[in-house]
Amino acid sequence: MTDDAFNVGQSEWYHPTDEIIQNAHIPDYEALYQEAMQDVEAFWGQRAEVLDWFQKWDKVLDTSEAPFYKWFVGAKTNIAHNAIDRHTKTWRRNKLALIWEGEPGDKRTFSYHALWREVNKFANVLKSMGVRKGDRVTIYMGRIPELLMAMVACAKIGAVHSVVYGGFSEQALADRIADAQSRVIVTCDGSWLRGNIVNLKQVVDEAVHRSPVVESVIVVKRTGQDIHMEPGRDYWFHDLMNLPIASPYCETEVMDAEDPLFILYTSGTTGKPKGVLHTHGGYQLYTSTTLEWVFDLKDDDRWWCAADPGWITGHSYIVYGPLILGATSFMYEGAPTHPYPDRWWKMVEEYALTVLYTAPTAIRGLMRFGDAWPSRRDLSSLRLLGSVGEPINPEAWRWYHKVIGKERCPIMDTWWQTETGGFIITPMPSVSLKPGSATRPFPGLEVDVVDEEGNSCAPGVDGYLVIKKPWPSMLRTVYGDPDRYVDQYWSKYAKQGWYFAGDSARKDEDGYIWVIGRVDDVIKVSGYRLGTAEVESGLVSHPAVAEAAVIGVPDEVKGSVIYAYCILVTGFEGNDALVDTLKAHVRHEVGPIAIPAKIEFVDKLPKTRSGKIMRRVLKARAMGLPEGDLSTLES
Ligand code: PRX
Repeated sequence: MTDDAFNVGQSEWYHPTDEIIQNAHIPDYEALYQEAMQDVEAFWGQRAEVLDWFQKWDKVLDTSEAPFYKWFVGAKTNIAHNAIDRHTKTWRRNKLALIWEGEPGDKRTFSYHALWREVNKFANVLKSMGVRKGDRVTIYMGRIPELLMAMVACAKIGAVHSVVYGGFSEQALADRIADAQSRVIVTCDGSWLRGNIVNLKQVVDEAVHRSPVVESVIVVKRTGQDIHMEPGRDYWFHDLMNLPIASPYCETEVMDAEDPLFILYTSGTTGKPKGVLHTHGGYQLYTSTTLEWVFDLKDDDRWWCAADPGWITGHSYIVYGPLILGATSFMYEGAPTHPYPDRWWKMVEEYALTVLYTAPTAIRGLMRFGDAWPSRRDLSSLRLLGSVGEPINPEAWRWYHKVIGKERCPIMDTWWQTETGGFIITPMPSVSLKPGSATRPFPGLEVDVVDEEGNSCAPGVDGYLVIKKPWPSMLRTVYGDPDRYVDQYWSKYAKQGWYFAGDSARKDEDGYIWVIGRVDDVIKVSGYRLGTAEVESGLVSHPAVAEAAVIGVPDEVKGSVIYAYCILVTGFEGNDALVDTLKAHVRHEVGPIAIPAKIEFVDKLPKTRSGKIMRRVLKARAMGLPEGDLSTLES
């Protein structure tokens, strides 16, 4: 968020119509918020009654080992039961759970019954490969229905999935496999992107080579090109699903509410990715409640969360949230502009999609092509829009509102994180909006903007975003590293016991929250979260690079792009050819999303006397701004 956006946007109101308010699940946000805050535990306990539990809880929240909070203590459940099993016993068994379109234009649909069968079959396949409750399974796939099936199948048998986004490459994947110690990988031969095949299996082969813990690789045939299949290790998904062991009946494992459901790696301040751990009980409650109330999902909706299932947005709002609600979701495999810039709008028209949830970077990217592309399509089915991943600039917000939503569709700008599991600061359809603000906290959540000491900041003053009370879908730990969990999120405001989000923000006179951005070494490139350290390790793993420093620089479409400064090993010459080589190297090691937009060769990096790179100075240099106080700089 820029100062301009704040100054203008603060008084730019968009009020919902009476019709929207009357039809909303929550017509009066304020009243519900007040009610929830009177007794947060009772609020969640009551709401949890809408889900199925094999055994009810003894206690909603246990704070005795804070910050290792426990929710729904003593309860037995399984998210797969609520997401699929239970729907097959109701009229929803023949309702569409998923409508999918591949980039080349192929289509597939699954009813809840059909999805349930596939999930059961695959759950049996996993079992036959020796996967047991608590085992980790790494999933590295394109955006195809089997990805969703594999996730729910893991949950069903109590295995813990670790989905790695298909935009990551060898080393990033190898690190995540090694950290989770996954013996089984589920992948596909390739996926379609902008008319080309992304060869995912080749990346898996290399990563498995670097992480020898892997025993079996299950490969879905998607693109059909020739790939290497290692005898005794690699198996085709379709072969396994045709074996008698792949029976359509698989008992759903009875899980403790606090048993792990998944690990999702996210970038932090060090090179080692953090395995954010979420559990069955609280997560199923929070994702389904937030989705129902914020996007007002009803049975006749067709919901499109255009994120990738490999990120938290997809986990919570493509896979679990919508399935638990028994909703119909739409999923698309490829690029928004393939073959033409109206691909998204064509699909909204064709499938009569009613709610679209995407990222500001995608909106800005499509906005560049002008109004004619969306205007030639019938977008009248849409009734609500959403945004996530980074602050949305008011120009993009207004375009989205006017050209896509035809000024009828409120925009839900949802602020949250991999760690939070679900929306934290967000409007609901009945809340008045201001472009660029995620508005107010979800009921049951206490959020504030505070200074270093923890005092609430006055309106208009920048501070740190904190969450003052635990919530059901909070991360439970960093996988295998509880100290890092405490240190990263709970140490800054340890005295008060608040969660530190790592973002800066500002409130306005109306109590609306405006998120500014990260305060740590995390860069958001096209809404994707990357750690500077990850890109730096990628660069220094090349023999020419002695040291590297990476910063994020504002970009009109991507939000931020990466600038890299490299000190070369003696004997290497910093020329254009080396820039290309290093970009290719980062693509290969970390992934295409991590490729620096600019690489500059330098003799020295600005460092503090203790040896810490002063990114602030590099950023000022890159943007042509004053470099500020350099007194602590190493001479
Ligand atoms: O900086 C905030 C930004 O994205 C970060 C979390 O990234 P990740 O864990 O990848 O999750 C993204 C999807 C939930 C936050 O710390 N962020 C996310 N949503 C918004 C946002 N910044 C401003 N406005 C948002 N709506």
